[in-house]
Amino acid sequence: MKLFAQNTKVEALKRIPLFEDLSRKELADLAKITEDVEVPEGKVLCKEGEIGREFFVIIEGEAEVTRRGKHLATDRGGEFFGEISLLEHSPRVATVTAVTPLRFFVLTSQDFRHLLDNNPKVERKVLQALARRVLALSKDPATA
Ligand code: CMP
Repeated sequence: MKLFAQNTKVEALKRIPLFEDLSRKELADLAKITEDVEVPEGKVLCKEGEIGREFFVIIEGEAEVTRRGKHLATDRGGEFFGEISLLEHSPRVATVTAVTPLRFFVLTSQDFRHLLDNNPKVERKVLQALARRVLALSKDPATA
């Protein structure tokens, strides 16, 4: 279901730190290829061990990241997840579940790659988050 008109979607994308360096035109192009979705609390968006095909950017709500059933992090509005599996064509390292009603944007794997290829500043932000997450995973004896 489409939740936003194009203009509102551009405004929503503009408020997300990951996209803060994009021009109005780039935001408008991004708005055309992102799908806006709303799911209820309890919906599983990424399943640990499964191949990933999508990248998620939270607009509103909270999602819990767990690995082997243990809490790793809570992602909120403006944050993103799903990048690890797409960058490496690898299985999801964690499960991500909506813990409140969740609104988010989704990019397909192909559009995500295209976005990074064309926007080095977006790519750097994704890679910084990836590094932080890999460090968190490797430091936690319960999940490593
Ligand atoms: P991916 O492996 O594709 O799917 C599960 C996602 O959970 C993963 O990408 C990251 O986006 C996210 N994730 C993994 N570890 C953490 C963490 N420590 N903090 C926040 N998000 C994480």
